[in-house]
Amino acid sequence: METNIPTTPTPDDAALWHDGRLYLAEQRLLPDRVEFLVYDTAPAVAEAIQSMVVRGAPAIGVAAAYGVVLAARSAYGAAGRDWQAAIVPDLERLAAARPTAVNLAWAVRRMRALIDRLDGSDPVQTLLDEALSIHAEDRAANRRMGDLGAELIEGPTDVITHCNAGAIATGGYGTALGVIRSAYAAGKIRRVYADETRPWMQGARLTAWELMDSGIPVTLQADGAAASLMAGGGIGWVIVGSDRIAANGDVANKIGTYGLAVLAKYHGVKVMVAAPTSTVDMELASGAEIPIEERDPEELLSCGGRRLAPVGCAARNPVFDVTPAALVDAIVTERGVVLAPTTEKMRALMG
Ligand code: MRU
Repeated sequence: METNIPTTPTPDDAALWHDGRLYLAEQRLLPDRVEFLVYDTAPAVAEAIQSMVVRGAPAIGVAAAYGVVLAARSAYGAAGRDWQAAIVPDLERLAAARPTAVNLAWAVRRMRALIDRLDGSDPVQTLLDEALSIHAEDRAANRRMGDLGAELIEGPTDVITHCNAGAIATGGYGTALGVIRSAYAAGKIRRVYADETRPWMQGARLTAWELMDSGIPVTLQADGAAASLMAGGGIGWVIVGSDRIAANGDVANKIGTYGLAVLAKYHGVKVMVAAPTSTVDMELASGAEIPIEERDPEELLSCGGRRLAPVGCAARNPVFDVTPAALVDAIVTERGVVLAPTTEKMRALMG
């Protein structure tokens, strides 16, 4: 795969459209190397999403939107005026690349709605404009959520975050890390404890990197260290992102979030979920209906290329879990904040 750096990379660039090509920051190499991979076809983008080159719910939605532009270019090149039929397999492949984060299906659906309104002429510029809008809207949503989430925090306090819901997981700025950035700038956060987030280590590799890059004090901890940290006092909030929020406010997020929320309830720590409305799936009544991605157990059985468990050991690798709405104090979206979420409140938010 060709690699290239189109511009000075920063933790703000998960995906870039440059000169007719899609550039994705190779997140599996971070923080050791900042490198972009270049994409010219939709199947390659789908593969990048599946294999975690790009990850984080909003970022995979943005990448898929650009993937649709590449699909349209191929379909128009191959089928001319019949491009709308020719593009369908690529759309389906992109939408199916990962099952839990609904932003992916949402972005492909939004691009498809536009496709259905177009005629047989060259669609590339129109679809590119839409993909750029999806990207820019996500960035703006994160800024807004940053302000709204920061308002909820009575600081100064320490907070815990899980996985990576930062700039690199989104169109820019971040959801949970967006709130943390804004609250830190307002003097409301003293220190962020980042769970390392087994098995992909998004906390260690990405969250610690982003926060250090932004000059925000961060301490890495093993996922199992959160309970004793909370018991010691001084933690005001758990702040996380989400991959899908059901109509009743149940929240799917990185495996371990549920456990963290249970711990938070026991210790009187509040839980904030920051996510754009593209993460809300009003078609699912509760979190029980959210499809949970199971990945290869090998991701768990080895670490850094070294086998950890005995050969033949069974392992399960669900990579998300569902936190019941009852354990969530606030869902922060770009449209507003829902405190103690219920179906009625989520309906009111989503219209
Ligand atoms: O498997 P990943 O790394 O894609 O999981 C990411 C998460 O669980 C994030 O917390 C979530 O997508 C929110 S990102 C703004």
